[in-house]
Amino acid sequence: MKQPVQGFSKLNKEEKINWIAQHCFTQPEEGIEILKKYWHTNADVQKLHDEFIENTISNFLLPIGVAPNFKINDTLYAIPMAIEESSVVAAASKAAKFWLDRGGFKTEVIGTEKVGQVHFLYQGDERKLIAFFESIKDTLITEAADITQNMEKRGGGVSNIALRNRTDALEGYYQLHCTFETLDAMGANFINSCLEQFAKTFKAAALAYNDFTEEEKDIQVVMSILSNYVPDCLVRAEVSCKVEELNEDKELSPEEFAATFVRAVKIAEAEPYRAVTHNKGIMNGIDAVVIATGNDFRAIEAGAHAYAAKTGSYSSLTHATVEDGVFRFWIDIPLALGTVGGLTKLHPMVSVAMEMLGSPDAKKLMEITAVAGLAQNFGAVRSLITSGIQKGHMKMHLLNILNQLGATEEEKVYFVNYFKDKTATHSAVVTAFENLRATI
Ligand code: MEV
Repeated sequence: MKQPVQGFSKLNKEEKINWIAQHCFTQPEEGIEILKKYWHTNADVQKLHDEFIENTISNFLLPIGVAPNFKINDTLYAIPMAIEESSVVAAASKAAKFWLDRGGFKTEVIGTEKVGQVHFLYQGDERKLIAFFESIKDTLITEAADITQNMEKRGGGVSNIALRNRTDALEGYYQLHCTFETLDAMGANFINSCLEQFAKTFKAAALAYNDFTEEEKDIQVVMSILSNYVPDCLVRAEVSCKVEELNEDKELSPEEFAATFVRAVKIAEAEPYRAVTHNKGIMNGIDAVVIATGNDFRAIEAGAHAYAAKTGSYSSLTHATVEDGVFRFWIDIPLALGTVGGLTKLHPMVSVAMEMLGSPDAKKLMEITAVAGLAQNFGAVRSLITSGIQKGHMKMHLLNILNQLGATEEEKVYFVNYFKDKTATHSAVVTAFENLRATI
């Protein structure tokens, strides 16, 4: 693309594609063909997707897989996972099966508090601001009644509004730090609407507050927005068993396995470089469920990593101990998830995923999602401390390369066997494939 384009959003889909093909593709016909190949054949489904976002030109498909046999608080689940990375679903399924025979997963929602803030600037006497805030606090809530009444009827609403002084960080910077209970909704729209109303009420009341000087009356609201950092919207998932039950690995005794596993987790607790990858593996499981259930994985990612850095040093989201002959492994993770609103009603695939999970409420979904993260981490650390990660990965990698090369099912079986004792680098697979084809 060499020049800016005017009015792109006004073009219809076909025109947008043609414009892209002309300006961005070296092989326009091929590019157009691929984009159109991924249009849905059912016009209603395509319309739905077209309207999720803006300037839609095609669809980007993600596979949805299932990891069965998850026993969570004595109930069995088959967990839907939408993810492009090979091995993730297999690792989750394997971990689920492993813990199925050892008591399953136990979970607990520790809190469900959501957060939002009105960020504002105030120049003046802080004691007067505190007195003003105390005088206006109830009005902030009553003037938002139109927004909050439905949520309140269901048992949620605004839990608290606090005035926070952040002038340590920025001159004149204060916040209304607000907390909410949004029940089964993720709550972004509810929270943002409340905050914008709080800001309006706050600013207007300041202008009419007689104790303020003219300068103090002029409160500058910079922004009103929810926070994706929700350390008190927290869930714990854990597994535990007697050390002697960790008896599936040929290479390590149960005691060695437990000790090495705990050490590996301690390394992730202590070392940010390792913690980031360790947590990335956890998010493989978390994001896959978050996407399948129509939730916002960017919000979940941002909140999870902020929580991992809550002490000031980025650390592991999971922890493990061996005490009195018992191995215990757990995760604490903030998950602001919703089961109503947003994509949950709009996307038929989300409805299917929810049904697969027994139509959970938000708390149950927090628990299931945390379990998927813990299972993923168990699988990854277990591989890392035993056979290494590449063994399982390379087989999937091999199949991906063979698929790209257009290998037949017969050829795939042949090459999986052929590469059993060889390293399946991309070039090695291509060469072996070409050699085989040349002999036919
Ligand atoms: C790969 O997607 C995730 C892992 O790197 C996670 C880990 O190292 O724990 C295997």
